[in-house]
Amino acid sequence: MSAGIPLPSTESTAPSIEGIRTILVIGSGTMGSQIGMAAALAGYETTVQDISAESLAKARAELTARMEATVAKGRLAAAEAEAALGRLSFATDLDASAAGADFVIEAATERLDIKEQIFARLGQVAPEHAILATNSSTLGASKVAAATGRPDRVCNMHFFNPALVMKCVEVVRHRATSQATVETTLELARRLGKQPVLINREVPGFIANRLMGAIQKEALALAAAGIASREDIDTTARTALGHPMGPFELMDMVGLDVIDFIAQATYAETGDAADRPDAQVAALVAEGKLGRKSGQGFYAYPAPGT
Ligand SMILES: NC(=O)c1ccc[n+]([C@@H]2O[C@H](COP(=O)([O-])OP(=O)(O)OC[C@H]3O[C@@H](n4cnc5c(N)ncnc54)[C@H](O)[C@@H]3O)[C@@H](O)[C@H]2O)c1
Repeated sequence: MSAGIPLPSTESTAPSIEGIRTILVIGSGTMGSQIGMAAALAGYETTVQDISAESLAKARAELTARMEATVAKGRLAAAEAEAALGRLSFATDLDASAAGADFVIEAATERLDIKEQIFARLGQVAPEHAILATNSSTLGASKVAAATGRPDRVCNMHFFNPALVMKCVEVVRHRATSQATVETTLELARRLGKQPVLINREVPGFIANRLMGAIQKEALALAAAGIASREDIDTTARTALGHPMGPFELMDMVGLDVIDFIAQATYAETGDAADRPDAQVAALVAEGKLGRKSGQGFYAYPAPGT
């Protein structure tokens, strides 16, 4: 997976956690906006960069509203929210945003060509010491590391949705990631209020999506064989295993298109018949039944937005 990437010949120049003051988050969508807010709340000067001014404006409005709601609930002092929002800026220019960044978290659209371009550019414009991490759910950092010219300072830093709430961050090292990069990335995740876990080599799905995938696969097989209804399988996961929701409910929440996309990416990577995308999920996606967001998935939902 990391073939072609040279091992670092010299000691990594990745900064220690004390050297991280300014964070750049690339992409202001579902993940990037909240990762940026988490960084600003933790005291970092943070820029969220996106090629779409519209997406940046939406992110700013949503985060401002979210901070107001958090203050109204008494979970954050108004002055802290204001200070955090003051540390957060939004920009469309990558070069200018990257020039002063000590740590970059890329959360742009899940396409290898887009990420390759971003990482190649970061290799040229980000300070030499900067760590370049990707939040990708399906692409190991080795896929973009060589383009940077500093593969030892590249890794996955995988947050979960919603990033302001979910505690887990999967840090994945590839063959050339230096120990200093791993340690600083783990510590940064802790300072962002997260509980990081380290994955010692790239594997499709990392940990969480592999565990979730195994449960989903079994649930789909049980239902397809008529052994139990979807409702009863979901009830079992909740009442016997203590899961907050059942596998079908969870797939509807994540989005069946996303589930199908992850399965396709995993299958393309492994070629393992056991990883073949599920036909029930693919059929629902083909019918436009994407889960909660479209009002219909495995279950029917009230109209989106109600
Ligand atoms: N959505 C999730 O549940 C989730 C969870 C964990 C990780 N991820 C990963 O996070 C990343 C982003 O996912 P998302 O759900 O936030 O996507 P999204 O579609 O909500 O947002 C992506 C943003 O990237 C921007 N973008 C596209 N090309 C760009 C470029 N060249 N430079 C800067 N910005 C660019 C888009 O304008 C968009 O605003 C993906 O790699 C995905 O695998 C997603």
